[in-house]
Order: sequence, then C-alpha cells, then structure tokens
Amino acid sequence: MKIVNVVGARPNFVKMAPLMRAMRHRAEITPMLVHTGQHYDAAMSGQLFEDLELSAPAVNLEVGSGSHAVQTAEVMRRLEPLLDGVRPDLVVVVGDVNSTVAAALTAVKLGIAVAHVEAGLRSFDRSMPEEINRVVTDAIADLLFVTEPTAADNLVREGVAPAKIHFVGNVMIDALETFRRRWEASGIFEHLGLDDGQRYGVLTLHRPSNVDDPAHLAEMLEAIHGLARQLPIVFSVHPRVKSRLLHHDRRLATGSETAEAARGKGITYVDSLGYLDFIALMSRARLVLTDSGGIQEETTMLGVPCLTLRPNTERPVTVTHGTNRVIGADPRRILDEALRTLEDPPRPSGPPPLWDGHAAERIIDAILEHRP
Ligand code: UD1
Repeated sequence: MKIVNVVGARPNFVKMAPLMRAMRHRAEITPMLVHTGQHYDAAMSGQLFEDLELSAPAVNLEVGSGSHAVQTAEVMRRLEPLLDGVRPDLVVVVGDVNSTVAAALTAVKLGIAVAHVEAGLRSFDRSMPEEINRVVTDAIADLLFVTEPTAADNLVREGVAPAKIHFVGNVMIDALETFRRRWEASGIFEHLGLDDGQRYGVLTLHRPSNVDDPAHLAEMLEAIHGLARQLPIVFSVHPRVKSRLLHHDRRLATGSETAEAARGKGITYVDSLGYLDFIALMSRARLVLTDSGGIQEETTMLGVPCLTLRPNTERPVTVTHGTNRVIGADPRRILDEALRTLEDPPRPSGPPPLWDGHAAERIIDAILEHRP
C-alpha cells in the first residue's frame, strides 16, 4: 500500500513522526513523506525533524509564507502533479493547518482516498482559520481518526458516516512518550540559567487573534509583565510574533544583552525552541500560558497547569480530564487566573482515554483493515 504523508507546519511534524515510525514497521506499507514548506525556518522545521527523528522528506514543495489563499493554492498547485505521478493508495493529513486542507482537497479531486488524523475537533468559532480547515478536511476525508469521543460526536452531527470514524487516541502523546528519555535529558535548564527547583512559567502566543492587533498584543504583554513580577516567565517566541515584539519593545532588538534585560523584568524571551527542549521546559513549569492547541494536550499529559488564552477550545477533554483552564483573551483576567491556578492547581483525573502512546499503531491497523 503506497501512502503519501503530507506535513507543512510545526505541529504536523510532531503528529507525523509516530505515524512514519509505525508505517516503517509494516511491510505492507510504503510510506512517502511530503513537506509542503509552509514552515521553513530551521527553528520551525529542520530542528523538529531532527528532534523527532523524522527522515528528510522525499519532496519539499517550498510554498513558504503567503496569504491563506495563496498558501493553500500553492500547496494544491505543487502537490497535484506529484500525487498524479505517484498515484498513492492513500494520502494521510494531520491537524488543521492550511497544508492539511490543501492536501486533502488536492487528493480527493484526483480520486485518491484521504485519511485525516486529529479529525472532528471543533471550537465552533469560524473566525479561526483552523476551524475552517478542520470542517472542510473532515467533510471530504474517507477515514477520520479522532483523539477524543466528543470529536466523533461532532462528526456524526455533521453527517459523517460512523463507519468512517475511528477513536484511536492521540499521536501527539505518542511522540511525547516515545521521546520521553530524550527530552528528560535536555540541557535547556542550564542554557536558560534555570536552577533546580526554580519556579517559572512558560508562555507561547501566536494566534492572529492575539498577536496581529498591536494594541491587544501590548495589553497582553503588560499583563504578563505583571505576572512575571511574581513568577518568572520564559516566553518562546514564534517567528510571526517576533517582528511585532521588536516593535513593541526595542530593547529586545539584540541577543544576550536583551535576554539579560528581559530577565531583570522577569521575562526571558527565547526564539522558538526545538521539540525536546520545549517539552522539557514545560515539564518542570508551574504554569503554562498559551493559545496553542497542541500545548493544551501536552500539558494535560505532563500534569502541568495550563491557562488557554482563547475564548474556546476544540480540545474539551483537556478541561474535563486534564489540567487546562480556558480563560479567554482578556488581558485583565490573566494575573488573577494565574495566581488562582498557582494556589489551587487543577487536579487531572488521569490521562484521557487511549492517550497511551499507541495511537499510531491503532491508526495503521485501521488503515490496513478498512483501506478505502
Ligand atoms: C500555522 C498554523 C497554525 C499552527 C501554527 C503552528 C495555519 C492557518 N496556521 O500558523 O494553525 O498553530 O502554524 O506554528 O496553517 N514564519 C516564519 N518562518 C516560518 C514559518 C512562518 O518566519 O518557518 C512567519 C512568516 O512571517 C509567516 C508567519 O510566520 O507569514 C505565519 O506563518 P503561517 O505558516 O502562515 O502560520 P502560523 O502562524 O505559523
């Protein structure tokens, strides 16, 4: 069975790594990895491939950045001849980024079956680009693999035939477990000057709704500065946020000097970290503040309290079973909620069902059994 696996952006690499590993162990499957090039910086792509032991992609479509329409269209335009030439039995897409929907559309229009890993998640907020990507991908996929039961309910409500839906667990958790020994050995603590037992929090922000409006971003950062007076914060800065940050605070313009200055104010700014260093950093944090989706799941698994700086989550199991509190994007709530959480952390009721490190194997079994 020839399977083309498509990845484009950072969280895709994490989800695809366990799938590629599992496919390589099955003689019946010939996997091929295609990178759309949506993420292209070393910190966003190359480092992740290395950390996750992903072999280099067979092809990189090098689409790069652009508006949503341009990026989606470029993936489709460049992927179509490749799929037409290879004629795989299945295209596997993961997550909810522009590359996901673009690859799924391209494949189905060529009459090639599509499997969507991490299907059915819904924030019910159509102003999120990812929500559109999820709804469209799920509507056209032939096999839909879900991480939590509510996702299957969402799909059934949208008219997806139950026979196409498989509850398999979470490949992001497979990655976390597979590489546990390696991230436990990370040198990030020495690198950032964090002593054993030092209290700190971790921040990530990259959603357009949080970072594209300079006034809102400035208010968020003010709130974080307030918190940082009580809990030192390490802020892992996504490239789309970096230029906006430099605009906000010119003292961050140069290397170590700026890190020192920032540390004096309780915030350490670091460029996007690799996978192993970032998981290690989160694992010992007192608190993680984020607008990412995957981080809500990883903190749940690590048992670290997470405050989600968005009005909603498409991953409700992280709230019902895990350590996640969805507090919205109003900067005025950040300090109070953070202090409340430090005082009274959420108590997880154990890992969500099937988050056991074996989701990828279940997905491969299902693909071989139900091959469309
Ligand atoms: C994308 C996904 C988002 C995911 C995130 C993870 C979509 C719609 N969004 O958002 O769901 O949570 O990846 O990081 O697909 N840039 C670089 N170098 C890179 C990549 C991006 O500098 O390697 C900068 C560029 O200025 C680019 C901007 O970041 O325009 C946004 O990149 P893009 O891939 O469009 O979206 P993300 O914000 O990364």
